[in-house]
Amino acid sequence: CHNPIEVEPVIDSTNSELMRRVQAKQPMVSGQILVAEMQQSGRGRRGRTWQSPFGANLYYSYYWRLDDGLQAAMGVSIAVGLAVYDALKSLYQLDVALKWPNDIYLNGKKLAGVLVELDGQVEGPCHLVIGIGINLLMPEGASTNIDQPWTDLSSHIGALDKNQLVAVLTHCLAARLAQYQKSGLGEMRAPWNALNAFAGEVVTLSTGQRQWRGVCEGIDEQGGIVLRQDGELKSYFGGEISLRKD
Ligand code: BTN
Repeated sequence: CHNPIEVEPVIDSTNSELMRRVQAKQPMVSGQILVAEMQQSGRGRRGRTWQSPFGANLYYSYYWRLDDGLQAAMGVSIAVGLAVYDALKSLYQLDVALKWPNDIYLNGKKLAGVLVELDGQVEGPCHLVIGIGINLLMPEGASTNIDQPWTDLSSHIGALDKNQLVAVLTHCLAARLAQYQKSGLGEMRAPWNALNAFAGEVVTLSTGQRQWRGVCEGIDEQGGIVLRQDGELKSYFGGEISLRKD
């Protein structure tokens, strides 16, 4: 497959830039990639900031178009998390864990994050901007306002080649997205559940004002998180959901 790739030294956010192009109806190719050396307003999920200092980490966005509406886009986050796992496993033999919907953890600390943004209707074409941030080498001092335990690849891997990582990540992402487009999450459910950081643990799920507690059982076919509550299984969805370990 063919992935046009663009590298910018500085940008506000690679996701914001691709989203602006979508909204301006610029011609886009599925699989086109934008990488930046630093972001001035890197964004995380739920309106958070993603620390994006110069030259160290990977700030990567991948454009992809789905033709069958927003509904089909629901499970993309799951496929993307698995693709990041695939890349880190094949390149570095690392075994990361996945925290629903798409945080990547190593030894209990956050290594990478995924921000999937959509532009589309219930029916018809849906434009996806898949943003991936991977901590490669967090510069001294840049990390002081990260509000959770974090780690970076250079703390675990000797020789790091960012270009090679971009190539392998792109390959893994294209493969998982093709699989998702063909057969949904069917074949990805078991491997994702095997990597679930909170499998079998009591967790709290927060959506805005409401909170639910239950045993984390993994994902369902649509990519929702399944909690066991008083012996009953219930699935939860939505971009604003966070999963916390007590
Ligand atoms: C999260 O864990 O909250 C998601 C973090 C996603 C960060 C990446 S870096 C490249 C892309 N551009 C952004 O502004 N955010 C994503």
